[in-house]
Amino acid sequence: MANRGECCLGSAPPRKKRPEFVTATYMIRQMGGPSKSVLMLCDDYQYYVVKLQGNPRGPYVLANEFLGNKLLSTVGIQTPPCAFVLVEDCLMRTAPARWFEHFEGGKRPCGGIHFGSAFIGDATDMNTTDFPARRSRVHVWNRRDFLRTFVVDVLANNQSPRQVVFSRAKGRETWTASFIDNAAMFGGTCRIFDDALFRGTYFDKSRYRGMWDEDRIERYVHEIADCAGSALDEYVEQVPREWCKGDAGDLVQCLRKRLWKLNLLLNPFRDRLFP
Ligand SMILES: Nc1ncnc2c1ncn2[C@@H]1O[C@H](COP(=O)(O)OP(=O)(O)OP(=O)(O)O)[C@@H](O)[C@H]1O
Ligand SMILES: [Mg+2]
Repeated sequence: MANRGECCLGSAPPRKKRPEFVTATYMIRQMGGPSKSVLMLCDDYQYYVVKLQGNPRGPYVLANEFLGNKLLSTVGIQTPPCAFVLVEDCLMRTAPARWFEHFEGGKRPCGGIHFGSAFIGDATDMNTTDFPARRSRVHVWNRRDFLRTFVVDVLANNQSPRQVVFSRAKGRETWTASFIDNAAMFGGTCRIFDDALFRGTYFDKSRYRGMWDEDRIERYVHEIADCAGSALDEYVEQVPREWCKGDAGDLVQCLRKRLWKLNLLLNPFRDRLFP
């Protein structure tokens, strides 16, 4: 076993499954949030929350979304499956109201490949919410994913609060927490890694109460190294060229270095965030 402060880079074989390519057929509605994502129906008859290229949150948002999604799902954290969504220009033109507001004025997103996150709550017997009522708090079956996601977020230097969508079948007591919004992982929308800027915890800290345990953290760090260490190159290779500006190799190097010292990166949080 590696020393505290170091971990071995993974031995698990990389996953070969490539993300789906789907084509958008209808725009349903705009979602909340500054990225102005749009709920779309696609030709696989599934709904996706689509983050569009050129959105006002800046460069790297789509690449970060994709890489974050792959990292979380590889480690086994609950997150919606993702897809590359082709939105044709003619479909964009049917929805002028969805133009982005930039400093220079309104802008229509271009057709092309965009990032899709499978819509949670597609099924009609499903309740979903970003903020479940307080009395429901104890009934999240995958509560440990909060801590595991935190460890991944420290690795990836997430600079925005972690977001969660809660869902449960109607009439059921137990919620599933699905971890979304990876836009500010990997040094944020400008890819500047700065640990002083880390803000990647979920806003309600009671979700983490009583969960910090050194053995558990050690296990998570090793799981992440095993699962993600060998898969990073593959995921970075899959990012569409138009989503990033050619520094993919640098990102992998940076993440590998951070993977080595992940235990050290967690140190500042040990006593402060998780009493
Ligand atoms: N896969 C999904 N299923 C259901 N709802 C989703 C999904 N993805 C996002 N949402 C909803 O859409 C809202 C906006 O999504 P998201 O937080 O990813 O974008 P944003 O806030 O505009 O972007 P950013 O936080 O990067 O500025 C979320 O608060 C959530 O309610
Ligand atoms: Mg958001």
